[in-house]
Amino acid sequence: MKKNALFIALAVMLTIGLASCLKEPKVVDSVKLNLPEQAYNYASLDLPEHMQFEFNANAPTVFTNNSGGVVDPGFGFFPDIVFNPQVTDHGATLGRVLFYDTKLSLNNAVACASCHKQELAFADPTAGSKGFEGKVTDRNSMAIINVALNRNLFWDSRVQSAKELTLKPVQNHIEMGMEDLSVLVKKLAKTDYYPGLFSKAYGDSQITEERISDALAQFLCSMVSVDSRFDAFMTGDQTALSDLEKLGMDVFFRAETKCASCHSGNNFMADDRPGGEYGDPDFGFGGGGPKGTANNGLDLTTTDSGLRNGQFRIPSLRNIALTGPYMHDGRFKSLEEVVEFYDNGIKLHPNLDKKLIGDDGEPLRLNLSSLEKKALVAFLESLSDRSLIVDEKFSNPFN
Ligand code: HEC
Ligand code: HEC
Repeated sequence: MKKNALFIALAVMLTIGLASCLKEPKVVDSVKLNLPEQAYNYASLDLPEHMQFEFNANAPTVFTNNSGGVVDPGFGFFPDIVFNPQVTDHGATLGRVLFYDTKLSLNNAVACASCHKQELAFADPTAGSKGFEGKVTDRNSMAIINVALNRNLFWDSRVQSAKELTLKPVQNHIEMGMEDLSVLVKKLAKTDYYPGLFSKAYGDSQITEERISDALAQFLCSMVSVDSRFDAFMTGDQTALSDLEKLGMDVFFRAETKCASCHSGNNFMADDRPGGEYGDPDFGFGGGGPKGTANNGLDLTTTDSGLRNGQFRIPSLRNIALTGPYMHDGRFKSLEEVVEFYDNGIKLHPNLDKKLIGDDGEPLRLNLSSLEKKALVAFLESLSDRSLIVDEKFSNPFN
């Protein structure tokens, strides 16, 4: 008898177990997203005049093309280069959700926004950033500043566009640990919010790796920062900068300090256009050019060689007061330290940029007065865009 009862109980348990296996309940991940009725505007840009050249010269296709496809400014000659997609309101909205979603990491603990914080112009306040399972990145998290204008991304310029970049951090085991992207696609399909968001962005609810990458790139490209006090000054408001900041601007643009020859133009970044000073001289994409990098003499010998021989991206200085610590390894805590370094700390690395070597063959010494140093810091602080860091369209939709 006892044996029979046990057998029946076992049989019942097995049947229930089997039945639940056969019609596997659809796990639906339900989250209430805080998105506007009508999508925010990401697609059209209202640029002040002094920034129009930067965008026309560097990102001609991202915001203006209406075909919805990826434009190929390589004219078919450089087919392996992935350029940025056109930004649409629904595409960038989807990108925003992905950017803040911890589901993009293997253990559901890390989002892009964990290391790129809006209130810090999308940088991280620590030298290395904590990623997947508490592992720490070797390099300082970069601010996301007008990436649509960059031909070279990451500290070593190893990728050529936001589109090419977007799936890298997801797969990188330190950052997000999601090595198998097909797992991610399945995970997103099980939520109750992604299918609808993909439909709005791409016309149908299919979730693909390509679309994830595209939407993230659209969101990154839509993060346009052109609203600092420096911009107000450039649009004609003479009072936007204080006297100290104006002195700092003069120091920055003085030929002797060289600052503006590397951090150039109104986006304060390397001129990395093909044929530009820090671009590929032979117009060969991915060729031997500096790709927007330089060796600025941080060390006599380098442990991290960057692109090659201690050459690192010449980053944009927009929002710089918000994005410390500074340099690829976050070695300087403050802008005062950075200015002190350029004033008297440049080392004679064998690959030091020629601009930073004086006529005597020694590293350049600026010998700025303490007022000039203070002014230079003040000018750098005037480059902060206070609207970007509170703009709801770039904020966390899970809040
Ligand atoms: C664990 C922290 C971490 C996470 C998570 C992370 N990043 Fe990053 N991000 C970094 C670091 C560190 C760098 C610089 C890496 C390097 O240069 O080698 C970087 C660089 C970038 C850059 C380059 C900016 C430039 O100007 O070159 C972009 C864009 C970016 N990340 C976007 C993203 C996106 C999108 C995600 C999510 C899919 C993401 N990041 C997730 C830490 C992180
Ligand atoms: C030869 C080109 C060159 C010149 C000239 C130059 N820089 Fe730089 N700058 C760089 C490079 C390259 C980096 C990044 C180096 C690294 O991280 O290893 C950098 C980094 C910085 C950073 C930190 C950026 C960040 O996001 O961490 C600041 C601030 C800065 N420079 C300001 C200045 C100022 C002010 C001057 C003039 C006194 C100046 N630079 C002159 C190439 C240059």
